[in-house]
Amino acid sequence: MKIGIFDSGYGGLTILSKIRGALPMYDYIYLGDNARTPYGTRSFEIIYEYTLEAVRFLQAQGCRLIILACNTASAKALRSIQMHNIDPNTIRVLGVIRPTVEAVRSITRNGHVGILATPGTVKSESYVIELQKQFGEQNAVISQQECPMWVPLIEAGEAANEGADYFVDKYIHSLLDQDPEIDTVILGCTHYPLLMQKIQRALDGTNIQVVAQGDIVAASLQDYLNRHTEIQTQLSMGGTCTFLTTEAESKFSNSASVFLDCPVNAIHVNI
Ligand code: DGL
Repeated sequence: MKIGIFDSGYGGLTILSKIRGALPMYDYIYLGDNARTPYGTRSFEIIYEYTLEAVRFLQAQGCRLIILACNTASAKALRSIQMHNIDPNTIRVLGVIRPTVEAVRSITRNGHVGILATPGTVKSESYVIELQKQFGEQNAVISQQECPMWVPLIEAGEAANEGADYFVDKYIHSLLDQDPEIDTVILGCTHYPLLMQKIQRALDGTNIQVVAQGDIVAASLQDYLNRHTEIQTQLSMGGTCTFLTTEAESKFSNSASVFLDCPVNAIHVNI
């Protein structure tokens, strides 16, 4: 049995690489729905429909443990899928928001937390709800900023180019204008670490901690498997990773090779 990692596009690679770094022995299938990215600007119904298709597809490929390495899908579809579409005795689907929020509790010093995320994740209020649960409503000051241009720039291969600077600065400044006391910024979209250098540059001169999710999700998965040996013992241990994309194979392979800094040979699939 393999572990499935799903994202709307390349973003989940930032999670996959950290998970494989921490747990290299297992077999993985990465699925990027690049042909239909971005999800973050779509309606609840469509995100739910696409995510459910991806979960069913990965299940048919032999995955019984699936990580939604996508905040938008975690925010908009995870709970419904867990409640209505899967039998937890045969398949488990996990998201990335809960572990991130739990980790942030020990990172922020003053409780002023900023969220950078897709419009879908921001509108879902998932981070606000989860952070308030963790901190208590009185103790958290949460600001959110939608970044609708970041995923399209990354998917178009523009993340390292100068043109992206304008939109990085724009959203970071809008977030800090909402609350100048923010001491922790969550990159609440798995694509955003691919803009990390530019984000760090835009935050130069501040003491703000930038939280990317890869290490957090990897540690949380490790902990989950330690607690769920009934699943852990079923995982195959060949150390492989298969890359599947709904886009053209060569497009995904070229970009993913750059993002992961190793050769990737993707296979095109229809889901
Ligand atoms: N990586 C997805 C996330 O974490 C991006 C969503 C999108 O396709 O807009 O939200």
